Amino acid sequence: VFHSTPFAPPDAIFALTAGYQADPFDKKVNLGVGAYRDNNGKPFVLPVVRKAKQILANDDSLDHEYLPIGGLPAFTNATGKLIFGADSPAIKEGRVVSIQTISGTGANHYGAEFLARFYEPFKGKSQAEKVIYVSNPTWANHKAIFSSCGLTPVDYPYYDPATIGLALPKFLDFLRTAPAQSVFLLHACAHNPTGVDPTREQWEEIAAIFKEKGHFAFFDCAYQGFASGDLDNDAWAVRYFVSQSIPLLVCQSYAKNAGLYGERIGALNLVASHAGEGEGGAARLRSQLLVLQRQEISNPPTFGARIVGMILNDDDMFEQWKGDIKTMAHRIIAMREKLHDLLVNTYKTPAPGPNGWDHVVKQIGMFTFTGLNPEQCKAMVERGHVYMTGNGRISMAGLNESNVEYVAECFDKAIRG
Ligand code: LMR
Repeated sequence: VFHSTPFAPPDAIFALTAGYQADPFDKKVNLGVGAYRDNNGKPFVLPVVRKAKQILANDDSLDHEYLPIGGLPAFTNATGKLIFGADSPAIKEGRVVSIQTISGTGANHYGAEFLARFYEPFKGKSQAEKVIYVSNPTWANHKAIFSSCGLTPVDYPYYDPATIGLALPKFLDFLRTAPAQSVFLLHACAHNPTGVDPTREQWEEIAAIFKEKGHFAFFDCAYQGFASGDLDNDAWAVRYFVSQSIPLLVCQSYAKNAGLYGERIGALNLVASHAGEGEGGAARLRSQLLVLQRQEISNPPTFGARIVGMILNDDDMFEQWKGDIKTMAHRIIAMREKLHDLLVNTYKTPAPGPNGWDHVVKQIGMFTFTGLNPEQCKAMVERGHVYMTGNGRISMAGLNESNVEYVAECFDKAIRG
């Protein structure tokens, strides 16, 4: 009964991890998946997470009952404040609806489903007409998630390969000419895969067009804290859009900034026009999110929510978390500087763009979009055993003091051919 089932291709990112694990070469390096590693190349359990786990382990009052459908209240009551700010008008007016999700992926999934079902401009439209514009390029899974949830992803110009930077004029033109009330996916900070973020002034220009055209901002925020090492700073774009009363939602993930990759803890936050039960009110939106959750997973998992809920609600632990985030973000920034120095000063490697290797230090967050072409990426993997995606992206978190010189040497060889 399944004889015509076609083979699906392996996932481009996780196939790299499998290839890396099977590779016996002693100098192999995994720069594929965006997962933080410490300076010894080992997974990093944040000290604050270790502490939270100890507290949970000693708490005999905890059981394994179902969580409410919307998630752990200690978590869902706090997660919106992290991204919007405790002083946000949307929070103070009770207009934010937060639901616990299966990490950022689950949040993207529900965000898309919610729009497909309830976004007024989509009413009566076919899936082909329910368009969500996504940056070219974007996280590989975005398009797959959105298509599976009843939307049609269409690229908007974002990255300029000629400058290895932001294609701002083209992006702004696209926003201006898109139909009013279009839906745009925006990466809140630390754009994946390019590491290219708009500056604050550029965000203001982008937001002005959103406001003028009534566009909807679908923010994906998977890296709050990772871009600059500061949680508030990395939430700036979202908070600015809220201040401009632009309709929006925000997907959050605690995989990266709390190192809770496998716990799948995240949230979807919708901003309603008012707090009440009437049309467009937070209570109505929340009731429909609960329906989505019940149909999909019934009740979300407990462990990650307990950890993050504890960190978000305890002042001392929250401060410790901020320190842990700085440790990770600053180690990545140090690796950017080291790789840049090696390519420019030690190897004098010909750069792929007009601005030398500056993009390695200018780009933000977990990833660098190196500018290497597919053939050079292939050489990195096949000859250097340095695992990276074919689009030229490297996860900076995979670099450390012991392997960065070897990686720079491989870059040099791949580029010189
Ligand atoms: C990545 O882009 O490497 C991460 O977000 C992991 C994933 O799920 O793809």
